[in-house]
Amino acid sequence: MVKRTLPLSRVYRLLEPGPVVMLTTIVKGRPNIMTLSWHTMMDFEPPIVGCVISNRNYSFDGIKASRECVINLPTVELAEKVVGCGNSSGRKVDKFKVFALTPAPAARVKPPLIDECYANLECKVIDTRMVTKYNFFILEVLKAWIDPAKKLPRTIHHLGKGAFMVAGETIQLPSRMK
Ligand SMILES: Cc1cc2nc3c(=O)[nH]c(=O)nc-3n(C[C@H](O)[C@H](O)[C@H](O)COP(=O)(O)O)c2cc1C
Repeated sequence: MVKRTLPLSRVYRLLEPGPVVMLTTIVKGRPNIMTLSWHTMMDFEPPIVGCVISNRNYSFDGIKASRECVINLPTVELAEKVVGCGNSSGRKVDKFKVFALTPAPAARVKPPLIDECYANLECKVIDTRMVTKYNFFILEVLKAWIDPAKKLPRTIHHLGKGAFMVAGETIQLPSRMK
């Protein structure tokens, strides 16, 4: 394989592609949505998830103060709303209204689920030690919801600069996990 140097500024475009999610928080008493793709699984059960939430985002104030959020998983049908929520701020607009998304009550936390998303993970912040340095929040999933009708959800995966990969083919290989 003949390779060339990849500028360090583009490294994230190789590693980023987990599903893009929509994070809901309560900020100053009102629900807000932000788009997020920098997240990582950290443990199986209870599920622990790490997320980078920039301190420039309005959502940062909400999660820092309330220590709660919901990770909502959209499919490709919602792609334009996903990008819209990632290019506007709850400081200026009510994103549930502007993007015609439906808030639904969560069972264990105050921020709402986004009803149109096929899965929703209700989370509490369990560790803030890396927030000051990296804006990295560690979350525990307290309750998870899934639409059983969505057998092969076509999630979207950010490749940077407005490009997204849409999940498609699934293959099954041997696994040690039951
Ligand atoms: C595809 C996509 C992925 C994004 N991923 C992240 C992310 O992982 N972390 C982050 O802090 N901001 C991310 N953003 C930017 C925020 O969604 C954006 O700054 C948003 O306006 C924040 O909204 P808020 O001010 O209402 O919280 C992403 C935006 C897009 C479009």
